[in-house]
Amino acid sequence: MIIVFGSLNMDFMISLDRLPVAGETVLSTEYKLMPGGKGGNQSLAAARFGSKVALIGRVGTDSYGKDLRESLKSNGVMVSGVAYSDDLPTGCAMVAKEATGENQIIVMSGANVQATHEQVPDEILIKQNLLLMQMELPVDQTVTLLTRAKAQGLITVLNLAPAIMIPRKALGHLDYLIVNSIEATQIAEKLQLPTGNNAVKLAQALAIEGQMTVIVTLGKKGSVAVTKDGEAWSVPIMPLDQSEVVDITGAGDAYCGTFCAAIHEGKSLPEAMRFASVAGSLTCLKPGTQEAMPYLDDILSRLDEMPQAEKISL
Ligand code: RIB
Repeated sequence: MIIVFGSLNMDFMISLDRLPVAGETVLSTEYKLMPGGKGGNQSLAAARFGSKVALIGRVGTDSYGKDLRESLKSNGVMVSGVAYSDDLPTGCAMVAKEATGENQIIVMSGANVQATHEQVPDEILIKQNLLLMQMELPVDQTVTLLTRAKAQGLITVLNLAPAIMIPRKALGHLDYLIVNSIEATQIAEKLQLPTGNNAVKLAQALAIEGQMTVIVTLGKKGSVAVTKDGEAWSVPIMPLDQSEVVDITGAGDAYCGTFCAAIHEGKSLPEAMRFASVAGSLTCLKPGTQEAMPYLDDILSRLDEMPQAEKISL
């Protein structure tokens, strides 16, 4: 089973001709409410891949919270671990998306700040399971859960988004760290590691620091991974007709959820990255995040179009 300790947000998806700059007001004629939150999105991606997934988190007692739970449940995610807050509303996110597909996201955390590691019972922290987390829940709870999970031998994966610092020691409890290139630079700076524009070097520095495998996603340039033993891989994105791309918001979450599902079922690192890359690309063809996540059959039907992972020398 995959345990996801993560956020649930109701996303206000706002379409704009272009994103505002600081101090500017721009007008939009359209917004939609869609289920989101990195925890919910990644859970759904893993469930659609075919994994058994339990999501642990917290929502408000408002209609958004109930809708988010129901929507995930109807997609096969176990939500009995999603608790209700007594006093805070469900988390919300403003997702502004411009015509080019670029976006800006502001998260109002709401009930997510009350998620606690105690919501995850010892009974499910067993080594057959994989723990996936992001950085939209309280850092101390995330780090404590990571420490508990590592002690029980689970595979541990952290999508360090947003790039909030976690204690250096906690990195050592991770098997996989997944970051985009901006987050990789931010976390390397915070750890006072050498930074630069080379994603492979960044991944290598982080992999050595945390003795873990580090994956850096690079948008249209695909993703790279470096293991603690110094093995490195590069995977492109699945070639897409750019005129078909409608929304890139869910791509990173599709990548993380699918990667975890593939690793959990025993696929190798380069193969899991390949599946994740197809999932990330397919998600860009539909609006929203959760509603855009592909099923395993969708991924399999396009896998042939995806080049093989390339081993790179450091
Ligand atoms: O990664 C996209 C997600 O980030 C959105 O669904 C939003 O809720 C924020 O958590």
